[in-house]
Amino acid sequence: MIEFLLLLLAIGIPWSSNAQVNEINNPPQPSNIIILAGQSNMAGRGGVVDGVWDGIVPPECQPNPSILRLSANLTWEEAKEPLHKDIDVNKTNGVGPGMSFANYVLSRYPGLGCIGLVPCAIGGTNISQWERGTFLYNQLINRANAAVKGGGSIRAILWYQGESDTIVYEDSISYKKNLKRFLSHVRADLGSPLLPVIQVALASGEGPFIDIVRQAQLGIKRPNVRCVDAKGLKVQPPDDLHLTTQSQVKLGQMLADAFFQFLPHPLPIDISNNILMALIEVLLLLLAMANPLQANAPQPSNMFILAGQSNMAGRGGVLQGVWDGIVPPKCQLHPSIFRLNAKLAWEPAKEPIHKDIDVTKTNGIGPGMAFANTVLHRDPGFGTIGLVPCTVGDEMDAKSYKTNLKRFFTDVRKDLRLPLIPIIQLPKKPAAQASETITGPVQLRKKAWKQKQLPVDQAQQQGLKQHHCARKTVDHASVEVVASRQDTQRVHSSDLLNGWGAHSDCKAAEIDQEQKGWNHAGPEKTSQPK
Ligand SMILES: *[C@@H]1O[C@H](CO)[C@@H](O)[C@H](O)[C@H]1NC(C)=O
Ligand SMILES: *[C@@H]1O[C@H](CO)[C@@H](O)[C@H](O)[C@H]1NC(C)=O
Ligand SMILES: *[C@@H]1O[C@H](CO)[C@@H](O)[C@H](O)[C@H]1NC(C)=O
Repeated sequence: MIEFLLLLLAIGIPWSSNAQVNEINNPPQPSNIIILAGQSNMAGRGGVVDGVWDGIVPPECQPNPSILRLSANLTWEEAKEPLHKDIDVNKTNGVGPGMSFANYVLSRYPGLGCIGLVPCAIGGTNISQWERGTFLYNQLINRANAAVKGGGSIRAILWYQGESDTIVYEDSISYKKNLKRFLSHVRADLGSPLLPVIQVALASGEGPFIDIVRQAQLGIKRPNVRCVDAKGLKVQPPDDLHLTTQSQVKLGQMLADAFFQFLPHPLPIDISNNILMALIEVLLLLLAMANPLQANAPQPSNMFILAGQSNMAGRGGVLQGVWDGIVPPKCQLHPSIFRLNAKLAWEPAKEPIHKDIDVTKTNGIGPGMAFANTVLHRDPGFGTIGLVPCTVGDEMDAKSYKTNLKRFFTDVRKDLRLPLIPIIQLPKKPAAQASETITGPVQLRKKAWKQKQLPVDQAQQQGLKQHHCARKTVDHASVEVVASRQDTQRVHSSDLLNGWGAHSDCKAAEIDQEQKGWNHAGPEKTSQPK
């Protein structure tokens, strides 16, 4: 199975588009898992008056064979209101945002496949009760893990909580810190540091400090964390705490609109750019072949696609067309690192890993082996790595680079059927590269890059520093994580490894640590490699 793809880099969505259909009458395994968490307004109290639900299910919340829910006993069943009935068991549940969300998503993206809702919200809970290690936290992680057991990918967490943190001033003041930590922990423990999160800014509260909590929610700037504002949606008397059924319908659609920002929109394809098209074809061919290999070849469990041009192919140690043959320790052979050779067979990877791909040039050291070795060094249980070299050291048309690059990513994602696959790309290094003559095309390309990068202080505000958790090994350049076409996440970081670090081993503690370092040292200070 292809678990990860690396396009110039790295990725993190399990390859699992095939729904597993159970022989018996069991519903299929949904391919798009959505976690619902928070308190009463996520669980749903629409239509509940005096502890009794009126049973009214509006058209937007009707069952749909392509919408399932994970029941309390961890089996899939067709979803219907109230979604949280066997989860938030001590309360009367009514209509929440989940069904409206799912129906609206499918109406706009009919080809998305089956949606699996994982209800985890419990009424009346404060943020402290969701801390890592608590019952609620563990239940969320366990249910999320159970949800993907048969395949499928977690696409997003929908989070609506905070009403209970508006009673005590201190709770409202520490809400932002607590929410950030909660999200970091959940993403780390689900192994998906960039997992999309859509949270709801409160419409109501149990106490007077609603605005402080709302400001915290609206002010959280983390990659792939979005916030929709429920303020103004109608709440039910007499307590004015819970959204009405109609408000929940609306909220579900607002959440869906935010979710669409994480999905790609198809672009018109302009076939005039032959180089790009050829590249995509080569890539897809290699991928297609990489999958069903002969039974006797070792099949790596984690695949990375290496694409780009000469600096990805690797020219380290190449002088005047001759490679010096020096292989540094980090680039040495490793029993768990393989490469897909030009004959489409797996073999132990060794430098130069593009030797039979980028055949018209002399290949030397590229980033691939050091990347793979470091991943395995940090996470010995990672499994085997398969590198799929696809790079050819030719120039693309620099003038249209930005447009073409975007289209390339969009097309690759579409054709791989992995619309959210993270892409980390390395820009051209700044002028410092001595061996590089700065020609017109290069400058143009750098300009395209600059346009896509946030000014540093803005990036900082947006909380992008969590990507710096792997900064210890940082030494140059920037990494951009393209989370989706519309939502390009820019990350000042260093190299592939750090891009991958952001995906694989960002521990919350390190992130917090890193933030301190960032705040004091400023983003431009790079740590020395160890
Ligand atoms: C799980 O719970 C559902 C009801 O939510 C029930 O229909 C189903 O039979 C249960 N399955 C098992 C294996 O207990
Ligand atoms: C429901 O109430 C019982 C009894 O107070 C308690 O043990 C249980 O943890 C509660 N369940 C939830 C989900 O709050
Ligand atoms: C959160 O709620 C629990 C249970 O109601 C309570 O024991 C705890 O004191 C609350 N924590 C905060 C910080 O308000």
